[in-house]
Amino acid sequence: MSEPMSEPMSDVLDRSIRFGSNAGQPLTRRDGIAKVTGTATFAADNLPDGLLHAVYLPATIARGRVTKLDVDAARAHPGVVAVYTPENRPPLQGDPDDKPTMFSFRIEVLQDDTVRYAGQPIALVLGETLEAATEGARLLNPDYDMQTPRTGLDDGDPFDVEPGGFGRPAGTTHGDIDAGHAAAAKAIDVTYRTASQYHNAMETHAIVAQWDGDQLLLDVPTQALNMTCAAYAYFFGIPVENVTVRSPYLGGGFGSKAIPVGPSVLAILAARASGRPVKLMLTRQQMFGPVAHRGATRQRLRLGIGDDAALTVLDHDSLSETSTFDDFHEPAANASQGLYAAGAIRSSHRGVRLDIGTPGPMRAPGEASGAAALECAMDEMAEAAGMDPLEFRLKNYAETEPGTGKPYSSKALRDCYLQGAERFGWAGRPMAPRQMQDEDGLLTGWGMGTALFPAPMFAAEARATLRADGSALVETSAADMGQGSWTSLAQIAADSLGLSMDQLEFHAGHSSLPDGGVAGGSGHTATAGGALHAAGRDTIRQLGELAAGDPASPLYGAGNASLVAQHGRLFVEGDPGRGESFTDILSRAGVPELIGSGKAARPPEAGQRHAMYSHGAVFAEVKVDPELCQMRVSRLVGAFAAGRIINPKLAESQLMGGMIWGIGFALHEEAKHDPRTGRILNADFAGYHVPVNADVCGLEVVTVHEDDPFVNPLGIKGVGEIGIVGTVGAIGNAIRHATGHRIRRFPIRIEDLLTA
Ligand code: MOS
Repeated sequence: MSEPMSEPMSDVLDRSIRFGSNAGQPLTRRDGIAKVTGTATFAADNLPDGLLHAVYLPATIARGRVTKLDVDAARAHPGVVAVYTPENRPPLQGDPDDKPTMFSFRIEVLQDDTVRYAGQPIALVLGETLEAATEGARLLNPDYDMQTPRTGLDDGDPFDVEPGGFGRPAGTTHGDIDAGHAAAAKAIDVTYRTASQYHNAMETHAIVAQWDGDQLLLDVPTQALNMTCAAYAYFFGIPVENVTVRSPYLGGGFGSKAIPVGPSVLAILAARASGRPVKLMLTRQQMFGPVAHRGATRQRLRLGIGDDAALTVLDHDSLSETSTFDDFHEPAANASQGLYAAGAIRSSHRGVRLDIGTPGPMRAPGEASGAAALECAMDEMAEAAGMDPLEFRLKNYAETEPGTGKPYSSKALRDCYLQGAERFGWAGRPMAPRQMQDEDGLLTGWGMGTALFPAPMFAAEARATLRADGSALVETSAADMGQGSWTSLAQIAADSLGLSMDQLEFHAGHSSLPDGGVAGGSGHTATAGGALHAAGRDTIRQLGELAAGDPASPLYGAGNASLVAQHGRLFVEGDPGRGESFTDILSRAGVPELIGSGKAARPPEAGQRHAMYSHGAVFAEVKVDPELCQMRVSRLVGAFAAGRIINPKLAESQLMGGMIWGIGFALHEEAKHDPRTGRILNADFAGYHVPVNADVCGLEVVTVHEDDPFVNPLGIKGVGEIGIVGTVGAIGNAIRHATGHRIRRFPIRIEDLLTA
C-alpha cells in the first residue's frame, strides 16, 4: 500500500475541479473488443518457453490427516517432473501462517499432513503437460484418517467475535437497548439464515510464475497488484521490488482475487525448485475451498416500534461460520448500523469454527447478507404495523447516521425510494399478500428493499506525462476486474489534463506503475481516479507555471489558479480567448515532456466528520406457480444514488450485475456439504447455481442524481457492490407478498414454499 498523501486532500469538494467532456459520458469499455474477440491476454494465456504445469491434489475430506500418498506411482507416470508433499516441500522464507498484507489469511502450502477443510491442497504435481500432471495427481490416491467434520452453523459452539481489523467486525451499541425493547408497542423476533456462497468468477484463479535468479515475474489476476507483490516477496524472502506482477485483465474478482492464496504460493515455489516457469490454474471444482467464500450466517433480528410506528429498537445479532485456523466473520450486522433511525441500535457478531476453508470478502461483504435479513425483518415489522413497507421505511428514515449522529456526506435515498417506486408502479400494490395473479394463474407479488454500502477510499498513486505533441501518458497499477475501470479511470485522467480520450495513452495493470491501490470495497474509481486526477492537475500546474512565466505567452502573469485546461489548450477562466495550446507552451519552452504525480487517500478526519454511503432502493416483482412453487423474478427496478457517475453505461452495468447477483443470492446460490466427509457436494456449475439469462427478465436501473461535496474531491462513491444489497430482501418480500409465506432463509427453494 502506498503511504497516505503528505498533503491531505480537503474533505470538502475542491471547487477548482472541473470535469471536461469525458467524465459523464456513457463510453463503451476500451477493452471490450479485445475481450470478446479473444485477443485479451489473461494470466493463464501466458505460455513461456519451458513451461511446466502444476496440478494440486485437493483433500476429499474436511477433517483429519493424510496417512498415505502413492508418491512413487505419481513420479513413475510419464511426463511427471516432480511431486511435492509435506515431506519434501521446499522451504519458504516467510511463515505461511503470517499475514503479510492488510488482506491476508493463513494459507495452506503443504505445511503438514493435517486436513482442515475439503479442497485443501495436500500435494502438488509438476508435469511437462497438464495431462501428465493431472494424471500424476490422480495416481496419488490418498488414504485418510478421517474425523467427523463440522460444516454447519449448528455444529460448533458460538463465540463472540473479538474485534480487531479485517474480518473481525466490531459490534456497536447505541442508545438503551433494554429501554428500546420495553418501549415497543409491537415487536418481532425473527431469525434468518443465509447460505455459504463461493466466488465463481468466470476466470478461476490462475498463475504463471517465472524466476530469473531472485527476480520473480508473475502473471496473476489480482485486484491489488502492489499488495500482491508485497505478499509474495514476503513468502519468498526477496525485496518487493524484485517481484513484478502483470495483471492486465481479470475475468472477475469478487474479493477472492484481492487476497494471496496458497495455490499461487505453491506454483511459485515449484517454479523456484524446478528452475522452470510454472503455470497453475484452478479447476472450477477447486474454487470451492482454498480461495475464500461468503460464509453462512444465522441472523436474529429483534425490532420494536412505538404506537407511531417509529422504531424503538433495532437489535441485530449475526452468527457466522469461520475456519478452525483463522478468522473471517461476515460483518453482516453492520447493515443495521447506518440505515434506520431507531431509538436504540445494537449490532453484534458471533462466530462458529468449522472444518471449512476460511471465508473472506465476497462482493458486498457484510451488507449483502445483513441487509437480506434486515430488509425482510423491516418488511415483517411494517406488516405488523399495518403499514406499506415503503411508507414504513420513510417513517424511519435517518437524517443523520444513527448512533454517531454524524451527517451523511450525501444521502439521496429518499429520491431513490420515490424514483424507484414511480418507475416500478409501487403505488398500485395491494397491502395484503396473495392478492395478485397474472393471466397465466401465477401468483404475483411485489416487495422492496433498501440498499446501502459504505463509500471507502484506499490509497493510490498515479503519474501523468504530457508530451510535446500534446498527447499524454497516464499510469497507475489499477486493476480492471471487468467493472470497466480502465475506461472510467481514463475518462477522469483525460479531463484532468484537458484532453480527449484519443489523445490519452492509459497504462495500468502492471506493478511497475505507480501503486493504484486495491480494487475493492467499491472504492477503486474514487481511489485510483483521485490519484489520476491529482497527477493530471500536477502536470497542468507545471504547464501553467511555464506559460505564466513566459513573456511570450498570452498567459504571461496569469495566476495559476485562474487557468483552465480544455481541448488541449490552457486559458484564463472566463476569458477563453486568452490562452494557447499545450504544444505551443511546451515547444516555446523547449520542454519535451512534463511529468506530474498524484496521490489520493481519504484523510481520517473526513470520516470522522461525515458518514459516507451509497444508497439505493430495489423493487421486485415475482411470479410463483401456485402448485409447483417455481419462482421467477419477473421485474426488478433499482434506483441508486452513488455520488458522481463517471460512466453511466458502465455504472449501470455494475448495478445490474449486482442486482443479478441479488437474484442468485435470493434464489440460487448455496454450497452444500456432505455430512459424512464434509466435502462440498455441488462444487461445479451443474450443482451450484447462479442466475443465467433465462432467470433475468425485466431489469431496470435508475441512477439518481447526487452531489457529494464531502466524500472526496471528485464526489465519487461507488457502484460495484450495492446492487446486491437491496435486491435480496426485495425478492424475499415479494415472495411473501405473492404467496403469503415468509421464508426466513436464503436461497429460497421450491421445497421451502412446498412445506411452508
Ligand atoms: Mo470486494 S469483496 O471489495 O472485491
